Amino acid sequence: MNYRHHFHAGNFADVLKHAVLVRLARVLQRKPGGLLLLDTHAGRGSYDLAAAAQGSSLARAPEWPGGIGRLWARGDLPESVTEYMGLVREFDSQRRGGAGSGPPILAENETNNTDTAPQFYPGSPWLLRAVARSQDRVALCELQAGEYAALQAEFQFSPRVSVQQLDGYLALRAMLPPPERRALVLIDPPFESPDEFARIAQGLADGLRRLPGGTFVVWFPLTERAGVAEFDREGGLRRMVNLPPTLVAHLVVNPVAPKLKGCGLLIVNPPWQFDRELLSLAEWLAGILAQSPGGGAELRWLVPET
Ligand SMILES: C[S@@+](CC[C@H](N)C(=O)[O-])C[C@H]1O[C@@H](n2cnc3c(N)ncnc32)[C@H](O)[C@@H]1O
Repeated sequence: MNYRHHFHAGNFADVLKHAVLVRLARVLQRKPGGLLLLDTHAGRGSYDLAAAAQGSSLARAPEWPGGIGRLWARGDLPESVTEYMGLVREFDSQRRGGAGSGPPILAENETNNTDTAPQFYPGSPWLLRAVARSQDRVALCELQAGEYAALQAEFQFSPRVSVQQLDGYLALRAMLPPPERRALVLIDPPFESPDEFARIAQGLADGLRRLPGGTFVVWFPLTERAGVAEFDREGGLRRMVNLPPTLVAHLVVNPVAPKLKGCGLLIVNPPWQFDRELLSLAEWLAGILAQSPGGGAELRWLVPET
């Protein structure tokens, strides 16, 4: 396992995934019953964006300027993005030492540029904990030892958050169904292995067998190599898993890119009429996050709502 999410933290893909995750949680929380918020591939939970440019042996161009960086100073955020942006700002401010604890401590030649650029970015675990109500629970799984250690340190004093060094696909069998009987599950693997889509399909089948009404969100890259065409079309995932209503959203930021053209989200059992909100959110993001002409957002039902 070579994948380290800090290279990608705050990029366009994180923005789509995290903005949708926050909205989905809020819509599901319209019902008062407790909710399990399960993150099967959690990462380290928080990211220092300055470290995003540092590879193990060579410096890389950071990806966040093309993602959260483009939203940071905008005053025209649609309602569906405002809570997500508020949480990211809160996280950034806390980590700088802002929020209620006096002015940030700055190094000599450093300026306080909170208005122009973020310095820290939260992972999905932090966002899930931030939106969890007193009746909700957050369960985080991370397999890679270093990332797991960081994640555990991050949440060691958080009530209602459990952190496990566990294969996320196994967690779909071990943790479902939850006592709450309701769950929002994020499946966000690194796509390092050629059988990742097959493992996702098996994981979804396992999860749905245990919790047929659970809401599952799967992130996936739009690349030739990942084999998306076989995954989210009629002949693919649908053939492998007996799916309930399922939505697919594609965000294409660079249609001519040789590798990553954009990313997709599969949402199994979305809340009623969530497609309307998702389409306008994805279209707005596509306009802001485009890296070349010809991109955009696309939404379709893989299995329609009845
Ligand atoms: C894309 S990152 C997760 C990012 C995180 N969900 C977020 O949005 O902030 C994928 C993570 O999955 C971890 N991982 C890889 N294989 C795993 C597995 N089988 N089970 C759990 N975690 C795994 C990697 O170490 C990596 O930290």
